[in-house]
Amino acid sequence: MTHNASKDSGEHIAPGAGLRIGDIAPDFSARSTTGDMRLSDYRGRWLVLFSHPADFTPVCTTEFVALAKAADQFAQRECDLMALSVDSLFSHFAWLRMIRDRFDVEVRFPIIEDPTLVIGRAYGMVAPDDNDSATVRTTFFIDPHGVIRAMTCYPANVGRSTSEMLRTLDALQAVDKDPVLAPANWEPGQKLLRQPSAKLDDVFAAKDHTDWFLQGVGRGKRT
Ligand code: BEZ
Repeated sequence: MTHNASKDSGEHIAPGAGLRIGDIAPDFSARSTTGDMRLSDYRGRWLVLFSHPADFTPVCTTEFVALAKAADQFAQRECDLMALSVDSLFSHFAWLRMIRDRFDVEVRFPIIEDPTLVIGRAYGMVAPDDNDSATVRTTFFIDPHGVIRAMTCYPANVGRSTSEMLRTLDALQAVDKDPVLAPANWEPGQKLLRQPSAKLDDVFAAKDHTDWFLQGVGRGKRT
């Protein structure tokens, strides 16, 4: 790890569990199913970095099948996928082989081995009160500058939604393109919202009482 992962000193809290939106994603080097890698080598592209509790488990298997099938859709958005768990590289290989043979899907994005959980703890991927020290389903959306732009955390018994991951990415990319806001349930092609004016004159000049802060703008096209 090249990152100083000592943000908080809570007895049961992972060292980097205090990561927030806007922080630079802590850099690390690791061994993965696609070879040795370094997080900072992904600068210039979007990255979805996510942890899963364990190889050869039911929900995780469905997630990897779904994400491998959606890999092209992430690539269209100039976004790479990167997975991580405590399992060994050889466990990852055996699992990916099983997935290919059973589901006819090749998982080609890297899966990192993190046997000491040094990365998982720096990212707060390990549930603080979890005795088995597996990672939970944490997902980080990291922009081309290496900045954490969104994160989600699901429990082991609930799988993530690939379409919501893609939608989050679409929304992050849309609000980067123009100074706009993505409303609830926004999808590409739908109206985005204008940033509300901070000028009293605009408030008084608005046609109706919500017009000054709730105004649709343009159509959010996929970048
Ligand atoms: C699963 O992926 O199915 C799973 C993993 C860990 C605990 C419970 C379920």
